[in-house]
Amino acid sequence: MTIAAVITAAGSGSRLGADAPKALVLIEGRALVAWAALRLDEVVDSVVVTAPADHLDAMRAALADAGVGALVVSGGETRQASVAAGLAALELDPDDIVLIHDAARAFQEPSVAAATIEAVRAGADGAIPVLPVVDTLIAAPGADGSIGDVVDRDGLRAVQTPQTFRARVAIDAHRRAAEAPAATDDATLARAGGHRIVAVDGHEWGFKVTRPGDPPLARGIARSLAGGGA
Ligand code: CTP
Ligand code: MG
Repeated sequence: MTIAAVITAAGSGSRLGADAPKALVLIEGRALVAWAALRLDEVVDSVVVTAPADHLDAMRAALADAGVGALVVSGGETRQASVAAGLAALELDPDDIVLIHDAARAFQEPSVAAATIEAVRAGADGAIPVLPVVDTLIAAPGADGSIGDVVDRDGLRAVQTPQTFRARVAIDAHRRAAEAPAATDDATLARAGGHRIVAVDGHEWGFKVTRPGDPPLARGIARSLAGGGA
């Protein structure tokens, strides 16, 4: 049984607004995608990275620079299509375990990835990291700026990656996705297929590098790792 990973890195990063695709943005001299792959390397046997079709060579170079051995394939128009391309490239056996991870969550703790794998080994169809919501949540303001009602955050969780599945579950979910309405999340697809998905504790470092204020946070984590603090 193999433990494999799809790292999704085919997005442009429009909210970040960098010159290059987000996964190629350098954090302390190393591309975001390479950080993601190096941290997953501790827990997986093989990795496929989905890249923008016009940045395949740049993605391969960024990974090679960091000493990462990964197969790089073209992603799709949507994250879901990119995951499907990555799954196809992995040639999984049904009993394998597959992690689906965002390059943008490059600093997720390896222990969190390991916990998702352990939950699937223990019998779940899939496992995802979640965190409690720390901010007060309200319904979005109306056109006049007046705020809406408070939402009970105790009943909510924020979802991270890697989202980890028995391979047959991930493949089934994405086969259904071709027919179903777009879902942003692999666990949502799997749940819709009747599969049992459990939650494990996520980590703050699994945040998604999304907006211009995020790379400085990522740099702080990278420096902390270089200094031996984790
Ligand atoms: N992704 C992908 N293929 C796409 C879109 C996104 O592989 N067609 C990947 C991104 O590279 C990222 C992950 O999915 O690692 C999560 O997506 P997100 O953070 O939204 O990245 P982008 O779509 O690149 O950013 P934005 O939405 O700001 O444009
Ligand atoms: Mg996006």
